[in-house]
Amino acid sequence: MTFRLVILSMIVVCAGAALAETLSAGDASSNGRRRAELIVPLGLPALPLKFANVSVAKVALGRRLFFDRRLSFNNTLSCAMCHLEEDAFASTQSKKAIGMEGRTIRRNSPSLLNVVYQRSLFHDGRESRLDLQAWLPLLAEDEMANPSMGHVLDRIGALEDYTVQFEQVYPGEGISVRSVGDAIASFEATLLSANSRFDRWYYGTEKDLLNEQEVAGFRIFTGKGGCSGCHRIEPDSALLTDHQFHNTGIGYRAAMRPEREYVIPLAPGVETKMSLETIDAFGEKPRNDVGRFEVTLKESDRWAYKTPSLRNVSRTPPYMHDGSIATLDDVIEYYSSGSAANFGNNGYLVRLNLAADEKAALAAFLRSLDGDDASKR
Ligand code: HEC
Ligand code: HEC
Repeated sequence: MTFRLVILSMIVVCAGAALAETLSAGDASSNGRRRAELIVPLGLPALPLKFANVSVAKVALGRRLFFDRRLSFNNTLSCAMCHLEEDAFASTQSKKAIGMEGRTIRRNSPSLLNVVYQRSLFHDGRESRLDLQAWLPLLAEDEMANPSMGHVLDRIGALEDYTVQFEQVYPGEGISVRSVGDAIASFEATLLSANSRFDRWYYGTEKDLLNEQEVAGFRIFTGKGGCSGCHRIEPDSALLTDHQFHNTGIGYRAAMRPEREYVIPLAPGVETKMSLETIDAFGEKPRNDVGRFEVTLKESDRWAYKTPSLRNVSRTPPYMHDGSIATLDDVIEYYSSGSAANFGNNGYLVRLNLAADEKAALAAFLRSLDGDDASKR
């Protein structure tokens, strides 16, 4: 654990250095007024205006908050413990996230790379604003478990180092509901990842960069696989999502075939199995999950989840909103075998029946979407 924390803080220092380098010369006025000119890597669209020009000091403050375990009720949990930098700011440790006192959250931690481009947040899209999003995990009983907004503000206010830093970055405002959310969002806006081998091939000039297998995978992805109908590739950039919600059958399948035996995460990487009867006897029942329906109450949104971006997808197993599919090969098999079409309800989804070499090609293509931030570390 200590080892991991040391690595994390080293990476954080490096990320800070990269950001500082992007500052333009002669733009060095003091007191946190300096602007960070984020360089958008090849393959991503222009940054949303609100985050195109954030101050270096604001990003540094947001980063501190993101990694600070003192923001949780009993000082154990930071944002970074479920969104791990070395896991592309997702978590590869368990299917579903583990929050306060080992409580299982019903969903898988998504990657925060490129989160600034998301039009709605969470697997069900229930939050529309990144600068307010942080308050949900801060207050959720099974996540950071703070009892109220005031409690969080008082606690940060009692930490002298923060009082000074907030006043510098938000003069006259200091620590507020708005500034806490804004600082964390400003840090998250710097988590950009693209310039992948795919980007350099498709949007750049390196037209020989992808090998034959990867090109074949791209053709399936955009052709008979129908994948790009939802995981979209635009002429100038690709977020690999349509920002919509679809029922691809994962939620339906889970609801129709409830597992008789549940895997209970005890700590990151440590699990035990329990029968449904045992859980019912003394524990809380795992909460039902009907996806987008919870936000819209529209019947057609039952079991619909946000189309995830597939950038860096090889770095963030397990997959789907509930982490129920372990590997990329298994995801491809899920689509190919017709499970997505059978359990889901979307016209794009059909039984693909891909041959073994086609599945391998599709997997190779998906791996070409890994951003170059991974190889730099
Ligand atoms: C206990 C684990 C845990 C902690 C702690 C946690 N998160 Fe998350 N985070 C998750 C899970 C799980 C989801 C998806 C939940 C859902 O869809 O209902 C998520 C979703 C998100 C999203 C939405 C991403 C998207 O693409 O839709 C953002 C942004 C985010 N978290 C940021 C944060 C920040 C900032 C903090 C700290 C204030 C934080 N998280 C703390 C587990 C965690
Ligand atoms: C109808 C829209 C749609 C189509 C078509 C589609 N997907 Fe998806 N895809 C989704 C949605 C929605 C999810 C999330 C489902 C969930 O969380 O339960 C998803 C999840 C995934 C994931 C898991 C990502 C993660 O981070 O968990 C991968 C990988 C994936 N799709 C690849 C593909 C491939 C390859 C194809 C083509 C064979 C394809 N998709 C076709 C909508 C679609």
